Amino acid sequence: MSGDFRGKRAIVTGGASGIGLAAARELARGGAEVWILDLEVPEAPGMRGVVADVTDHESLSRAFAEVGDVDVVVANAGVAKVAGLEATTLEDWERTIGVNLTGVFLTVQVAAAAMKPRRRGAIVVTASTNSYDGEPNLTAYNASKAGVLGIVHTVAGELGPYGIRVNAVCPGMIRTPLTAGSFSDAAVLKEYFRQIPLGRGGEAQEVGRAIAFLASDDASYITGATLLVDGGQMASKFGTWGEAGAEFVGDQWRMK
Ligand SMILES: NC(=O)c1ccc[n+]([C@@H]2O[C@H](COP(=O)([O-])OP(=O)(O)OC[C@H]3O[C@@H](n4cnc5c(N)ncnc54)[C@H](O)[C@@H]3O)[C@@H](O)[C@H]2O)c1
Repeated sequence: MSGDFRGKRAIVTGGASGIGLAAARELARGGAEVWILDLEVPEAPGMRGVVADVTDHESLSRAFAEVGDVDVVVANAGVAKVAGLEATTLEDWERTIGVNLTGVFLTVQVAAAAMKPRRRGAIVVTASTNSYDGEPNLTAYNASKAGVLGIVHTVAGELGPYGIRVNAVCPGMIRTPLTAGSFSDAAVLKEYFRQIPLGRGGEAQEVGRAIAFLASDDASYITGATLLVDGGQMASKFGTWGEAGAEFVGDQWRMK
C-alpha cells in the first residue's frame, strides 16, 4: 500500500479500467473516498462512479460538482491507435489529442479550480515513456504524451503557491486492456522486453502504487516531477537481454 488517504477524496479519470482502476484501488486501500470518472462506470467495490467525458468541459465540471471537495485528482484517461504517419487520419489525430492532451488540460483546469480555494491538493497525470521516445506508428499518441509533460511542468509552477502539487508517472509497457494485443503475442514481448532491464512488462498495480505515492503526503516535497515506471527501459537504450546468457520463457527474460 502507498500512502495514508484517510479522510481524503480522490477522482480518477479513466478509472474504470487498467492503470486508472489500479490507482483507484490503491487510493481506496489507503482510505480515500474514490470516485471514478469514465465513459462507462462499472460497479467497483468500495468506489463510486460518475459518467464523464474528459474531452467535454461541461461534462467534467458537472462530475466534479457532484463529487464535491477533492484532495487528489488522477488525470489518467487515455486512448491509443497504432498507425503510420500517412495512415493517421485527422479524425485519429483529433481523437487522440482530444482525450490524451485536451482531456488532461481540462481535468487539470477543473481540478485546480476546485483545489485552489482550499489551498491544497495533489494532481497526478498519466504520461508515458512515449512522452520522450518516438515509438513507431504512434505519432498522435506520442505527441499527446509529450504534450502532457508541458502541462505538468507549467501548471506545477502556477499551482505550487496554492499548496497544490502536480506530477506525472511515465509508465512503460504495462499489461492492461490497451496493450492486450501485445501481451498476447510472445514474439512481440520477446523483442520489446530485450530493452527492459527487469526483463518483463509491468502490471497495472505497479503503476497504481507509483500514482498513489505521488498523490500522497509521502511525496510532500515533490512537484513538477516525472516518475518512470518502466522496468528500467528508458535507462537501457542499448538493450539488456540476448540469447548468449539468457532465454525468453513465458512472458519474460531470465538468466540461463
Ligand atoms: N498500458 C500501457 O502500457 C500504458 C503505458 C503508458 C501510458 N499509459 C497510459 O495510461 C493511461 C491508462 O491506460 P490503460 O493502459 O489503463 O488503458 P485502458 O484502455 O485500460 O483504460 C483507459 C480508460 O480511459 C477511459 N477513457 C477513454 N476515453 C475517455 C474519455 N473521453 N473520458 C473518460 N474516460 C475515457 C476508457 O474508457 C478506459 O476505462 C492512458 O493515459 C495511457 O495512455 C498506458
